[in-house]
Amino acid sequence: MEKGFESLFKESIIFANREVLSPHYIPQHLLFRDKQITDIENAITPSLRGERGRNVFIYGKTGTGKTSCMKYIVEQIRKLPMVRAEISYINCRVYNSRYRVLSKIATDHIPMYAKRGYGVIDIYEKVINWVEEDNRMLIVILDEIDMIKDLDDLIYTLSRANSDIKSGGITMIGISNRVSFKEDLDPRSLSTLYEKELAFPPYNSQELSAIIKERVGKGFKEGVVDPASISLAAAISAKDSGDARLALKIITKAGELSEERNMTAVTPKEVSEAAKSAEEEIAYEIINTLPEHQRLIVYAIALMTIHGHRYKKLNEGDDSFVLSGEIYNRYHSIAESLSKETKSTRLYRRYIADLNMQGIIISYESGKGIRGHTKLIKLAYPPLKIKELIEKTLFKEEELPAENEPKAE
Ligand SMILES: Nc1ncnc2c1ncn2[C@@H]1O[C@H](COP(=O)(O)OP(=O)(O)O)[C@@H](O)[C@H]1O
Ligand SMILES: [Mg+2]
Repeated sequence: MEKGFESLFKESIIFANREVLSPHYIPQHLLFRDKQITDIENAITPSLRGERGRNVFIYGKTGTGKTSCMKYIVEQIRKLPMVRAEISYINCRVYNSRYRVLSKIATDHIPMYAKRGYGVIDIYEKVINWVEEDNRMLIVILDEIDMIKDLDDLIYTLSRANSDIKSGGITMIGISNRVSFKEDLDPRSLSTLYEKELAFPPYNSQELSAIIKERVGKGFKEGVVDPASISLAAAISAKDSGDARLALKIITKAGELSEERNMTAVTPKEVSEAAKSAEEEIAYEIINTLPEHQRLIVYAIALMTIHGHRYKKLNEGDDSFVLSGEIYNRYHSIAESLSKETKSTRLYRRYIADLNMQGIIISYESGKGIRGHTKLIKLAYPPLKIKELIEKTLFKEEELPAENEPKAE
């Protein structure tokens, strides 16, 4: 046999089941989320009985269990007998426009729905007729809702549907990893979507320990993972963000390191090593999925850090800080060169706070001295890598034809 493939067929000493460690795995029970699950179920219950429920908005940082809880609830509902409601679970990273969301709803429920050629109005009418036809209650779950480009239009369309529909109705559940996303919505969408609000708080270190421990029990061979390794992975992720995805990624990568080194245990040493690359990986994923203007801002900071800028070395020898006002100007010229409208300085400050909260940037108040009062900002990850990453997504998108959808309306 080819030597390189030998390990493919060798039984792992470290892992018992890799699948349960994958980010796509949905655990059968979710720890510490009873309250959230009950709250969501209560909000949905009227729809299950055939009455229109309240729209719900769910928010919390990445890795706080929002997607897993929602998918778990959908599974539970599908097992119930005599339910009046139909559900569309929509991953808005993929279905990122009103057109795509409406098409997804139609393909989910309407047999013989032919994907091509329909305009927004045709699909809208098809969905409405289908709802009315059997007095249906449709629950539309919009996960990562902030990825939708024309979200105000979508929310308007779906809520408008309720007044067009004579019997039955549509309920929306929006899920977002970003709290500041509210600010981007117009007030009418906001009041439609926020009939009920639900927060998913970050996990603390004890909670993360329990989550890792449970998964390790399923995914790793017995006795392989040192209990101190679990506590360390939990502590690192709790300090960082309270993100269960990060915690699970660290322990999995630590297992891979042990395996590569033909070790029989996963010790805290592998955990600390794994933590660094897991954190980076997650940061890059976050950057990749930032809303467009936040990505442009991060891009501006990366460029300024790499190519230097006028205020270099102002901050006691550390030359990697940039001034907030300067970043705004740079962002403005980048946006302009891409023919995009620059967001207001008010929104810009929001975005900066958001990026700071997500650990992408580090920001300090300058105190007195540098042009009165300003913010000093620094990237938390290597600027060159960030620059390359953003260029891949940013300019690829620009080259694509706008959207493959008919221009109805
Ligand atoms: N309460 C929990 N119990 C067990 N695993 C969890 C829990 N919360 C999150 N996870 C795990 O953490 C990862 C991220 O969860 P996810 O639901 O995708 O978070 P979010 O949608 O909030 O970003 C998933 O692998 C999930 O299985
Ligand atoms: Mg999610």
